[in-house]
Amino acid sequence: MARSATIFTCSACGAQSPKWHGRCPGCGEWNTLVEERAPAPGAGGGRGGRSGALGPAGAAPAGKAVPLRDVRVERTPRLHTGIGELDRVLGGGLVPGSLVLLGGSPGIGKSTLTNMALGHLAAAGRRTLYVSGEESAAQIRLRAERLGAHALEVPVLAETDLDAVLATMRAEGPEACVIDSVQTLHSAALDSAPGTVGQVREVATRIAEVAKRSGTAVLLVGHVTKEGSLAGPRVLEHLVDCVLQFEGERERTYRTLRALKNRFGSTNDVGVFEMAANGLAEVLDASARFVGEATKAPGSVVLAAMEGSRPLLVEVQALVSPSEVVPPRRVCTGLDRNRLALVLAVLGRHAGVGVGAADVFVNVVGGVRIDEPGADVAVALAVASAARGVATSPAPLACFGEIGLTGELRSVAHPERRSAEAEKFGLRQVLSPATAPTLRAAVRAALGDRDRPVRAA
Ligand SMILES: Nc1ncnc2c1ncn2[C@@H]1O[C@H](COP(=O)(O)OP(=O)(O)OP(=O)(O)O)[C@@H](O)[C@H]1O
Ligand SMILES: [Mg+2]
Repeated sequence: MARSATIFTCSACGAQSPKWHGRCPGCGEWNTLVEERAPAPGAGGGRGGRSGALGPAGAAPAGKAVPLRDVRVERTPRLHTGIGELDRVLGGGLVPGSLVLLGGSPGIGKSTLTNMALGHLAAAGRRTLYVSGEESAAQIRLRAERLGAHALEVPVLAETDLDAVLATMRAEGPEACVIDSVQTLHSAALDSAPGTVGQVREVATRIAEVAKRSGTAVLLVGHVTKEGSLAGPRVLEHLVDCVLQFEGERERTYRTLRALKNRFGSTNDVGVFEMAANGLAEVLDASARFVGEATKAPGSVVLAAMEGSRPLLVEVQALVSPSEVVPPRRVCTGLDRNRLALVLAVLGRHAGVGVGAADVFVNVVGGVRIDEPGADVAVALAVASAARGVATSPAPLACFGEIGLTGELRSVAHPERRSAEAEKFGLRQVLSPATAPTLRAAVRAALGDRDRPVRAA
């Protein structure tokens, strides 16, 4: 009888089975069966009414649709976490009753960040609760000691049983609550192990119910997979209001916090942190430091690239030198060779910068590989700057854009994210298809007005 409390549903075709199968008996897909709580008998079909037990039309009373203008809104002020960068990425602080998912690789500082945020909230007189399924209360205390007196004020519960956690949330009524992590909590209603798709979905759904009812702002900490995406079902990302990603910069020591989804604010903002002995320190002068790292010599340009959905600033360097071999060398690392050939051809034909018989070397600094057309303009400007022996002026600039065969700059995806990233790192001048319609105009804007043909060889 206890076994019938759960049911296995195929996430591809919706077929249900009382037993788990590696392959769905309905559609034949592998590994799609997920454990769920079975709808209570006579409960009207459970989630989504899949069982079809809803009865004839008209059994449920009709709801009343209201024009949006007449909908009453209670504007509750946001909770300020005391960490400026976190508040900014959230769009101005935590929204009461909302669910925020914070993902990040192991050891990046998720627990540190959430513990610090709760510490500041507790110091500001807010009710807080820190639930940890990963560490013992003693371990959490040791970390909190390093984070200062505020962090020690936070009430902590080391628990993995979902029902116990929900009961504590109801009893304590926190205004802000951290669940560290969603993968470690376990619902007794399901037989599957913690962290499995069914469990994570169940845990998040039930916490969301309590949070919405009590107005608690909940920060769910989530693990990421080896590929760097959030572990657990995609549905988790739909269920929460905001998805934050905390990650390390591959080629620098900074840790960045950005929103992948935010129902209450923009997803263009980036928070930059550094791990220090007393916790995560906000890096407010990241811009100055980054611009300091990029060389200001001729042949160096900063590219505002996109890596999947995340913007990334990388330096592209070029060297143009007289060749001793025929044909001259065209060497590039981190870029496609054919793309370089195309850029050089357009540069010579439409922008008056011919490299003729010179060797051309192009390198994307930091071992990054760029596979997007938005890099064209950076390659072109780096080569033009190297060929002319002139640095981009007056200050280092960031650029992005695809080059067309007729010499025009073509727009690429996410221009506003790229520009925001450049601005965040202190590069106020951004050359893009919006500011320079052609490659000739871009070269002129970046290198000054000397629009004369140049031959480096
Ligand atoms: N005394 C210290 N000084 C500087 N940095 C420290 C110190 N102690 C710990 N750290 C840093 O804090 C990191 C651990 O932070 P934290 O526990 O918040 O990470 P996490 O993302 O929650 O990890 P997990 O995935 O294991 O839960 C360590 O990787 C280390 O870099
Ligand atoms: Mg942790």
